[in-house]
Amino acid sequence: MCGIVGYIGKNQDIRMGIEALRRLEYRGYDSAGAAWYNSDKKDIFLVKKAGRIDNLEKAIQESNLVSSGNPFILHTRWATHGGVDDINAHPHSDCKNEIFLVHNGIIENYQELKEKLIKEGHKFCSQCDTEVLSHLIEKYFQGNLEEAVRKALKEVRGTYGLAVISKKDPGKLVAARLSSPLLLGINQDEILVASDPSAVITHTRQVINLDDNEIAVLKPENFFILKEKPVIQIEWTAEEAQKGDYPHFMLKEIMEEPEAIENAIRGRLIPEEGQVKLGGLSSVEKKLREINRLLLVACGTASYAARTGEYMLEEYAGIPTEIDIGSEFRYRKPIVDKKTAAIFISQSGETADTLAALREMKEKGTMALGITNAVGSTQSRETDAGVYTRSGPEIAVASTKAFIGQLITLALLTVYFGRQRDMALVMGQRIVSELAKLPELARKVLKQAPEIEKIAKKYKDCKNFWFIGRKYNYPMAMEGALKLKEISYLHAEGVASGELKHGALALIDENFPTIVISPSDSVYEKTISNIQEIKARKGPIIAIATEGNEEIKNLVDDVIYIPKTLEMLTPILSVIPLHLFAYYTAVALGKDIDKPRNLAKSVTVE
Ligand code: M6R
Repeated sequence: MCGIVGYIGKNQDIRMGIEALRRLEYRGYDSAGAAWYNSDKKDIFLVKKAGRIDNLEKAIQESNLVSSGNPFILHTRWATHGGVDDINAHPHSDCKNEIFLVHNGIIENYQELKEKLIKEGHKFCSQCDTEVLSHLIEKYFQGNLEEAVRKALKEVRGTYGLAVISKKDPGKLVAARLSSPLLLGINQDEILVASDPSAVITHTRQVINLDDNEIAVLKPENFFILKEKPVIQIEWTAEEAQKGDYPHFMLKEIMEEPEAIENAIRGRLIPEEGQVKLGGLSSVEKKLREINRLLLVACGTASYAARTGEYMLEEYAGIPTEIDIGSEFRYRKPIVDKKTAAIFISQSGETADTLAALREMKEKGTMALGITNAVGSTQSRETDAGVYTRSGPEIAVASTKAFIGQLITLALLTVYFGRQRDMALVMGQRIVSELAKLPELARKVLKQAPEIEKIAKKYKDCKNFWFIGRKYNYPMAMEGALKLKEISYLHAEGVASGELKHGALALIDENFPTIVISPSDSVYEKTISNIQEIKARKGPIIAIATEGNEEIKNLVDDVIYIPKTLEMLTPILSVIPLHLFAYYTAVALGKDIDKPRNLAKSVTVE
């Protein structure tokens, strides 16, 4: 949520910063801004603009402000406090325009601080909470920027990732973090600070993650942090985070779903033992044998993966499992004991609500495991152990391949926990062998993209959609609906098929289509009854069915087929057409696929 770039080193041109900022645009795109030190003028220049980074770039070109020097700081904003306009855009500065900063997070006591600073004579020009930080730093500044930052942050309540520069203490960039991700990209003759590794990847793959309450002082030739910290290698390349020939990241990422499955299972299946190898859990393997209850916590799409995991773990591993969304879990009073383990699922590993739930569980002494795609993320650092999904960088705001990675990881965990308990060798072998076949089956589903595009075009003018499913595919109904509303702005809800008659059916008519996820599984016949109920009320139906099911063609308007697999793995195939359906509908409606309105990738504020 919001993107930060800061730079100090050999490069003198702000366009380098713009280029890095573009790779963070998926984090927020309401406005963008830059401030850079001009060494000839010994001054800091500031340009900020509402709208996309293109607007900022154009404004910089038109400003005739010479860019020769650094440090520079840049920001792309997802608005929380204050409207979307030039004034509220970052960087923000102090009364004398000497200190400039960019900030991610929320200053919760900003109103109180602002009133106090106004009484002390400070002049504010924006409604943004961030502006109090620049005035606070101004208040404490006596020639040393990091000292002023340190003192200012003592007064702040809330969350922050920030980068600060001052013309009165040039040749230095100060970065600080509390509950909002920030890392340093280390390269020869240059150091970058960024809220996300994508920003630094074309410069360096060596990064250091800042921890909460840490302040880093960056100079062209070195950097200083109080604590010795490990340098982490970014595992993916800059090319992987490019669109290539695809029109949108989302389509590229859907097309990479078979690869996401391959990556998630690579080296982890032990077919002859009906077992899986999860290196990230080896340190807690013994303790996990004692666990008799699981809590799965996640937000948004990841929570639907969790919900599918609940069905898998209960049916095959025999462990009572409960799921909740991070934003609610943190306010409940979860009853846990020493035999409970909590599993946190997050693509980014930086989702504020999921992290808050994780910290609450750690506080209670509960074992915390993580499933994440982001190596070195806050979640991966704060959990006791975990499993990486290895889905590669996901740039589109709508999560697709990372979701598939989460489902696969949960299936792996099911085998892992199951085999530690009562799961028979043959059952383990069966799941492992079906998992190994999934990449090819997923490729087969993707081949139907042209047909799915036609179906999407046919229904694009409908304003409402139900998505229904049972058992393993109930969470997929929610996922399909979320994806559609997220990028096409059409109204869609995911409903458990059995719930239709309890209310949802009232809305069905000839203009209200239902997408029915109906693989040939243990609940197929029940789902057919639901199809009849909808048809009796003239509702159009698109069915996702198992190959070979010819009967269903007579009952519904359109069918998309998925290959046969084990019931517990059907969601991994059934969700692929749902992702494509959402994508092609949004394309047909001319929407901004990768950057849907009002949203951002990775929600790092509460
Ligand atoms: O990074 P996380 O997996 O923790 O993100 C959780 C949700 O914010 C995320 O899945 C969101 O719902 C997606 N935009 C859905 O496509």
